Amino acid sequence: MQTFNLSDYLLQYLDKSSESPRNRQLYRLLRQAILDHVLPADTRLPSSRDLASELAISRNTVLYAYEQLLAEGYVEARAGSGTFVADTVPDAVHVPATTMRRAASDTGIAQLLLSQRGHRLVAQAGAASQQWGAFVPGVPDVTQFPHKIWNTIQSKIWRKPPIAALTYGHGGGYQPLREVIAEYLKVSRSVACEAGQVVITSGIHQSIDLCLRLLSDPDDLAWVEDPCYWGARNLLSASGVTIRPIKVDAEGICPDAADLAAVPRFIFVTPSHQYPLGMVMSLARRRSLLEYARQHNCWIIEDDYDSEFRYGGRPIASLQGMDSSERVLYMGTFSKTMFPGLRLGYLVLPQALSKPFVTGMEELHRSGQAPLQATMAEFMLQGHFNSHVRRMRLLYGARLDLLQQAIASQFDAAEVHAVGSDAGLHLALHLPAQCDDRAVAKEAQERGIAVRPLSNYYRDVSNAKSGLVLGYACVEESNIAPAFATLADVIRQHI
Ligand SMILES: Cc1ncc(COP(=O)(O)O)c(C=O)c1O
Repeated sequence: MQTFNLSDYLLQYLDKSSESPRNRQLYRLLRQAILDHVLPADTRLPSSRDLASELAISRNTVLYAYEQLLAEGYVEARAGSGTFVADTVPDAVHVPATTMRRAASDTGIAQLLLSQRGHRLVAQAGAASQQWGAFVPGVPDVTQFPHKIWNTIQSKIWRKPPIAALTYGHGGGYQPLREVIAEYLKVSRSVACEAGQVVITSGIHQSIDLCLRLLSDPDDLAWVEDPCYWGARNLLSASGVTIRPIKVDAEGICPDAADLAAVPRFIFVTPSHQYPLGMVMSLARRRSLLEYARQHNCWIIEDDYDSEFRYGGRPIASLQGMDSSERVLYMGTFSKTMFPGLRLGYLVLPQALSKPFVTGMEELHRSGQAPLQATMAEFMLQGHFNSHVRRMRLLYGARLDLLQQAIASQFDAAEVHAVGSDAGLHLALHLPAQCDDRAVAKEAQERGIAVRPLSNYYRDVSNAKSGLVLGYACVEESNIAPAFATLADVIRQHI
């Protein structure tokens, strides 16, 4: 068992770049450690001089924190022997039980503060801090968004918003937006739905979370494609369901006999554009998946995150549209077609689930954002959404061509080649097996290029392939070849 190391803990959580004064941060961290019994009564705190030097901060900062703790009764000064945690700690009765869950001598403060679910989520966090530039995956070119049109529509709505738009809203979302989305999905994605089956969410993350909260119990089994989107995997594992990674082949998810025998409650798939490898699920695979789900009462979660952008071949219809047994929960997002900061998406439910999900939204999240949703509805009704998507498809198609040319000019296809580039905003670049893709990504980042290592997306490490996920939508044309040349330089050093 590791013992708690006060200076390691403080070094980990003191944020020197934060706007919050360091002495307040130090006071709060020490106070929390005392309340959590990580620092039990009678523990001697280090001298202010020692602590200041271990943390490389000024002694006055430490003195302030100690004095504040002293004034509030968390610590007491014992003449000649130092500062000790007091016996009777104020507020101790208010400490939530979960924070006291583990013994003080356990590994560290984060584990003490967080639930097991919270700890899992934080430990495997996947969101990157960089969300713009070469070659950030999954981010559209937000500079192209027609914000003037949006602003005109929005201002009109705000000129005299009805009371209903300003108070708590309906759990399904703003009705005209549900209607226009249902129409759009019928036409463009062959989704079989009525407006009443559509629930507006803040995006696919919230849609998945809602499905898990309303349909899962701890230890339910979920199949996920391997590799799979980190966000989905983290939401699933944080919710307490057990994940079973399922291999994918050129036709999509490919369960073997042992997988089929382990009947899941959820099957999480990206049939139109497998994330991150990019293949389309074949018709035969779709049929057998739907049949399996029907026979075993599984829920298929269809994440249709970027299929509006398809550059070659025919558009791929949704899996939901082929489902006659109401086993598919279909979800889409405006993060790629509009901009991610909008935080708007939609969930299409089987009829029987529509009402409980509307109630679930109202109970869990309270509903609102009607002015925003009204703007979105008008934007779609006036045709701006379709024309923006059309325009961006051309732009991204051109950027994809440039990236493919850059790849071909730098590497022999037998050594390094791209897959999954018929659709979406990213492609996967396969690297030779011996190449450490995490080291490549790290070094590329140091040279200003953001890429994600493909192996990170695999759950089963024995199955993991070396590669990089490259986004091309938020990189200007003129920067694609030079940025890729820098990346190629880094890759070559690792082959
Ligand atoms: C496969 C996949 N699903 C979902 C999302 C996120 O969707 P949202 O922004 O609507 O939460 C992403 C984002 O990149 C994604 O790649």
